[in-house]
Amino acid sequence: MRAMLPLSLALLLASGQTPAQTKPEDVIRYRKAQYTVLLWNWMPLNAMVRDRIPFDAAEFTRRAERIATVPPQLLEGFAEGSGEGAPTDARPEIWKDFADFTAKMKDLERETAALAKIARGGDEAAMRAQFAKTGQACKACHDKYKAE
Ligand code: HEC
Repeated sequence: MRAMLPLSLALLLASGQTPAQTKPEDVIRYRKAQYTVLLWNWMPLNAMVRDRIPFDAAEFTRRAERIATVPPQLLEGFAEGSGEGAPTDARPEIWKDFADFTAKMKDLERETAALAKIARGGDEAAMRAQFAKTGQACKACHDKYKAE
């Protein structure tokens, strides 16, 4: 068995690509951690848009900017071979059509970048509209590639 680099070092050396030596369970843990950060920041925006809490443009912007940092780091959390090895809702179809999965991740990257940009503009109606559009990018991928 080849010696494994510590994950942090391996990711550092990989410049955007997950090294083949990374264990599947570490990849799965990485992507779930990314989704945890995403959801943590997404839920308050969801509450604002649904008028469950007061709309706060500055807070919206702060969280939208955090959200936009996640999608560019998410794809490496779906490295080949990480469809099993730990509990996961990722469907095997991801790796059968990785080009389509990648395109859906790029859609999310584009929509979350737009969300942060529009938020900085401060137009509440536009922020609400872009939040809905971003949510559609989540749903488009989950419907096809995430188990219940
Ligand atoms: C390109 C595909 C794709 C997009 C876009 C996407 N997701 Fe996911 N998401 C997945 C897959 C696949 C999983 C299952 C991961 C696993 O269980 O290993 C997942 C899991 C999750 C989880 C559960 C993580 C856990 O700990 O089990 C949350 C929360 C989540 N996504 C939120 C979102 C939100 C919010 C968005 C939009 C802002 C989004 N996702 C966009 C594919 C996507």
